[in-house]
Amino acid sequence: MEYAHILIEVPTAGVGLIRFNRPKALNALNSQLVQEMFDALTAFDGDDTIGCMIVTGNEKAFAAGADIKEMAETTYVEMFTSDNLTDWSAFNKIGKPVIAAVSGYAFGGGCEIAMMCDMIVASETAVFGQPEINLGIIPGGGGTQRLIRAVGKALAMEIILADRRLTAQEALHYGLVNRVVPADVYLEEAIKLAEKIASLSHVAVRMGKDAINRAYELTLQEGLNYEKRNFYLLFGTEDKKEGMAAFIEKRKPTWQHK
Ligand code: CAA
Repeated sequence: MEYAHILIEVPTAGVGLIRFNRPKALNALNSQLVQEMFDALTAFDGDDTIGCMIVTGNEKAFAAGADIKEMAETTYVEMFTSDNLTDWSAFNKIGKPVIAAVSGYAFGGGCEIAMMCDMIVASETAVFGQPEINLGIIPGGGGTQRLIRAVGKALAMEIILADRRLTAQEALHYGLVNRVVPADVYLEEAIKLAEKIASLSHVAVRMGKDAINRAYELTLQEGLNYEKRNFYLLFGTEDKKEGMAAFIEKRKPTWQHK
């Protein structure tokens, strides 16, 4: 498929990279861009040669939010019937890990997409915010739910109700991002992390991501049971046999991803 608003690349074996490409609009997320992103993520997810994905923007902006110009004239009925934001929950269907490589603005829907990813590598220039309140609206792509889980209620309230913005260092301090690195290497660092993940057993990585994400939905006991089930399931894989044999034989495992 030809994409108008994203660029796709495989920068190194096993890593699928999706780059938002609306630089003049600070990568504002219009509905076509969002659809293209999910289409590309789904394609990489189904590609056996890919083990991890990265979503990124450019140095100035990861994404400055949903496209305000596209939404400006939209009515309640149009919003309700098109139900565009339901498309955003397609992220839940992606089984392989997705890393957000964030530089510059990650505002509104941009911050929300970064939070939908499994990990965030931030440039020291990154700034996170949910400024929707200035437009007379609130976040609609998961901001009110995911932010509270990432940074706690007090700060989530301030970010969403008072347009408090977080620098990369603050985001690291509050646990929103995995690491902060210099601006000239943020993508390289994200690629290194993705390459590491892609070099492991894809099936085990997938099970791990699946079990971690369940923690958001289940009670502790249900979550522990779920984890145990995934753990037992992995004993049916070739990769489990290979990983343990390689350890005992003091050699590197060769993963078959099955
Ligand atoms: N939608 C559409 N266009 C946008 C945009 C957005 N979210 N953010 C920036 N742009 C456009 C600007 O309109 C401008 O275009 P023109 O040159 O055609 O005028 C261009 O990008 C550059 O922007 P600025 O001139 O404003 O750049 P700046 O460096 O002075 O400011 C900024 C940068 C602080 C990020 C500022 O652009 C800004 O505040 N943007 C809006 C942020 C926002 O409110 N995001 C939330 C959107 S709503 C949402 O996301 C809902 C949801 O939860 C799903």
